[in-house]
Amino acid sequence: MEMKVVVIHGSPRKGNTYTAAKIFMEAMGQRGNVSFTEFFLPEAVPEFCLGCQQCLSHPREMCPHARWIEPIYQAIMEADALLFATPHYGASSMTGTMKNMLDHLAFFALTVSPRKEMFGKKAFVLTTATGSKAALRPMKKCLKSWGINRVSSTGIRMFTDKWEKMPERKRQKQEKKLGEAARRFYAMKRKKPYLSTRCQYFINRFVIRQYMGIGSYPFEYWKENGYFEKCSF
Ligand SMILES: Cc1cc2nc3c(=O)[nH]c(=O)nc-3n(C[C@H](O)[C@H](O)[C@H](O)COP(=O)(O)O)c2cc1C
Repeated sequence: MEMKVVVIHGSPRKGNTYTAAKIFMEAMGQRGNVSFTEFFLPEAVPEFCLGCQQCLSHPREMCPHARWIEPIYQAIMEADALLFATPHYGASSMTGTMKNMLDHLAFFALTVSPRKEMFGKKAFVLTTATGSKAALRPMKKCLKSWGINRVSSTGIRMFTDKWEKMPERKRQKQEKKLGEAARRFYAMKRKKPYLSTRCQYFINRFVIRQYMGIGSYPFEYWKENGYFEKCSF
C-alpha cells in the first residue's frame, strides 16, 4: 500500500535543509511505495497570519488566507505521514515562514478543533543548523498538540554553513544518520497515544464543556464530532 507523505520545506533556499530532506525522502522511497507532496514556504503561504482568530472561532474556511491554507490542509488530512524540514534561525527556533504556516494551522490544536485523522498519523521534524538543535522542541510540541500519534525528529549540527563544506567523513556520517532515521520513520507503527496527548484531550474536553459551553465554536465542533461521548483515540 502506498504511503502518502506531505513535505513542508521551511525555507525557499535549496540549501542544507533541502539537501538533508532529499536524502531522507530518498531513503524512505527505497523502503517501499511512497508518494511525496511538497510545499515550499513562503511561496505556499505568502501572507502572515493576521491574528484575526477566525479559525479558532469558526470553521477553517473563514481564514482570510484560506486560498493558501486549503491545499496544505487537504494534503495533510490525506497524508499518512508528515515531514517538516526547517533550518534553525536564531532565538531557538524554526524559520519565520514555518512558524507562520503553523500559526495558520492553529485550529488543529486539541484545545480547539482536533481532527480524528491526526490520531493515526506520524510526523518527522528535520532541522539543520550550524550548531543548534533547539528548533526541534517547539516544532515537536506543536505537532503533538495536534494529536499526532508519533512525532520523531533529527537535527543536523553542521559546524559549517554549507553541506558540501562538511568534511567527507562527517558528511557520510550525517547521510547515514538521515538514512537510518528515514528507515525507522517509514517502519514506525501507530502506538498508544502519548500520555501528554491523552491528558490534553481530557482536560480540554472538560474545559470546553464546562467553561466555553454551548454556542462556542470548540463546543459545537467537539459535540458534532462525538468527542464528548467517547474517546476518539
Ligand atoms: C537568519 C539566520 C539565523 C541563524 N541562526 C542560527 C543559530 O542561532 N544557531 C545555529 O546553529 N545556526 C544558525 N543559523 C545557521 C543555519 O541554521 C544553518 O546554516 C542551516 O543549515 C541553513 O540551512 P539552509 O541551507 O537550508 O538555509 C542561522 C542562519 C540564518 C540565515
